[in-house]
Amino acid sequence: MISIRDLSFRYRGRETYALSNINMEIPDGEFLGIIGPGGAGKSTLLCAVNGVVPHHHSGDFYGEVIVEGHDTAQADPETIARCTGSVFQDIDGQMTASVVEDEILFGLENFGVPREETEARMEEALLAAGIGDLRDRNVYSLSGGQKQKVIIAAVTALRPRIMLLDEATGELDPVSSRNIFEFLRRLNGEYGITIIAVEQKIMLLCEFVKRLAVMDGGRLILSGGVKDVLQHARELEDAGVNIPRVTTLARRLKSGGLYGGELPWNIPMACRMMRSIVHASS
Ligand SMILES: Nc1ncnc2c1ncn2[C@@H]1O[C@H](COP(=O)(O)OP(=O)(O)OP(=O)(O)O)[C@@H](O)[C@H]1O
Ligand SMILES: [Mg+2]
Repeated sequence: MISIRDLSFRYRGRETYALSNINMEIPDGEFLGIIGPGGAGKSTLLCAVNGVVPHHHSGDFYGEVIVEGHDTAQADPETIARCTGSVFQDIDGQMTASVVEDEILFGLENFGVPREETEARMEEALLAAGIGDLRDRNVYSLSGGQKQKVIIAAVTALRPRIMLLDEATGELDPVSSRNIFEFLRRLNGEYGITIIAVEQKIMLLCEFVKRLAVMDGGRLILSGGVKDVLQHARELEDAGVNIPRVTTLARRLKSGGLYGGELPWNIPMACRMMRSIVHASS
C-alpha cells in the first residue's frame, strides 16, 4: 500500500515545484499507469515513492509518502529499496555485471539472500521473464529488449512488493514493449506485485493497466479507470497527452451523431464500434 498525502517537492535551486500537492492511495496489487507531458513530474513522483527524493535529491519537501508503512522521507533508503524495485529508462546505466546470471546474483547477494536460495530465485526470475536461455550470455551481446528483460528479472528476483518502471520500454519496438507489459501483467496477476509504470505509449498502458493517472505541471490532473480517464479527452489534449487515435476517431463519430456507444481505446474495441455503425446503417 502506498499513501501519498499533500506531497509537494521542489528541487534545490529551482523556482517551480516539480510536484504540487499530490494526493494518491495506491492499494496492494494495483497496476497503475502514469502519463503526462515532458516535465510533468512523473519521474519525480516515482523517485518520491522509492525514496530517491528526498534522500538523493535535496530540495523543499512537504507532505508524506508512506510505502508499506514506512515514511520514505524518514526511513533509511535501504528499507525502502527492499520493498520497491525500480527500473529506469537508461538500461545500460543500471547494468552492473557483464554476464546475465551475475547481474541477477549481484542484487541477491547485495540483499543478503542466503546462498542456498539464490539459485532457485534466479531460475524463477529468468523463467518468468522468458529469458532462461540467456543466463550465460554476455550482456553486451544482448538486444535492448533482452537487456530490459534482464533488468526486470534482476529486480523481480529481489521479490519487491512494488515495482516502479520509468519509461522502461522507451527504446523498444512495439513487439518487445508488449512482451514486457505481458510479463508485468503476470507479475501483477500471479504474484500480486503492485506495478506503477510511467509510459509514453498510451495505447499500451490502456490495454494493460487497471488505473491511469495523468500528470501535468507537477499536478495530478486525472486519475481513475482507463474508461473514465479517456472520457476527459479535452483535458488530456490540453495537457499535451496523445489519446489513442481510435478514441479520437470515436469522439469525432460521436460528435457527428454517427456513434453513441462507449469510447474504444484499442483495435478490437474499434472494430466492434465500426461493426455497430455498419450494422446500424444497414
Ligand atoms: N535532478 C533535477 N534537478 C533539478 N530539477 C529537476 C531534476 N529532475 C527533474 N527536474 C525538474 O522537475 C520537473 C519535473 O521533471 P520530471 O523529470 O519529474 O518530469 P517527467 O514528467 O518525468 O518528464 P519527462 O517526460 O521528460 O521524463 C521539471 O521541471 C524538471 O526540469
Ligand atoms: Mg521522466
